[in-house]
Amino acid sequence: MALTEKLTITHIELTTTKPEIAIREFRTAAEAAKAAAQTILTTVIHNPEARIMFPTGNTQIPIYEELVLLAQDTQVDFSKIHAFQLDEYVGVTPEDKESFTGFLRTRVYDPLHIPHQQRHEIHGMAPDVEIEAKRYNDEIKKQPIDLVILGIGPNGHIGFNEPNTPFESETHIATLTQDTLSRDQDRGQQLHTHAYTAGIANILEAKQILIVGFGKNKGELFDKAFNASPSIACPASALQNVSHRVTAIMDTPAAAVVHAGKQNK
Ligand code: GLP
Repeated sequence: MALTEKLTITHIELTTTKPEIAIREFRTAAEAAKAAAQTILTTVIHNPEARIMFPTGNTQIPIYEELVLLAQDTQVDFSKIHAFQLDEYVGVTPEDKESFTGFLRTRVYDPLHIPHQQRHEIHGMAPDVEIEAKRYNDEIKKQPIDLVILGIGPNGHIGFNEPNTPFESETHIATLTQDTLSRDQDRGQQLHTHAYTAGIANILEAKQILIVGFGKNKGELFDKAFNASPSIACPASALQNVSHRVTAIMDTPAAAVVHAGKQNK
């Protein structure tokens, strides 16, 4: 084989390396939240029957507020989507203050008029947790999820996939770590030690993954997740394995930390 052919082959191999996670940076958290809401809206415009998995958390509050306003303004119809929730504490009813089901009903499902039969909810009070986890996992796996939205937790968790959760995990009951419990305690929440969560494998199987975070602290978490090698010590780092399907939306304070971390790599 001539030398030039060998070089061509080398070049092709080099171009197949994984792309980096796409980072979209916005000056303020409010602008970033608007962009995240627009991403959700665009998914529904392109696919009115999209299967979307929604997270909870403070980060999501402005995103969902924007989404509801955008849906009203544009008259985009959400009534055909299938809505999934990312996680839920074990032992809560939707009426409990901490319930993620309750959060999503109030902030997303009711205002967007998502019919009850298309709300795929985790039953926090199910009598058998293993059966409930399996039931929910089967629901998720019926067809691929089109879009999963994520925040990032204090120890790099996504959903409630805590550090040391295998990347192959599907829906399971997570034992919450001290980092997560302390965060919940600091927020004045009633403490729940266990939670259902879609697994890392369920998340990675989605056609599109959107992860959002604002501020320096979230930037530090993104830095660990995106700039170091993937490791089960940081669950969000699993996203690097499907980087071509991941977009991270953040504000400038978060992005500055990620960019600085990349330079020091
Ligand atoms: C919780 C949820 C996660 C969420 C994370 C970040 O632990 N299980 O799904 O991403 O918190 O929440 P916040 O945006 O409030 O910091």
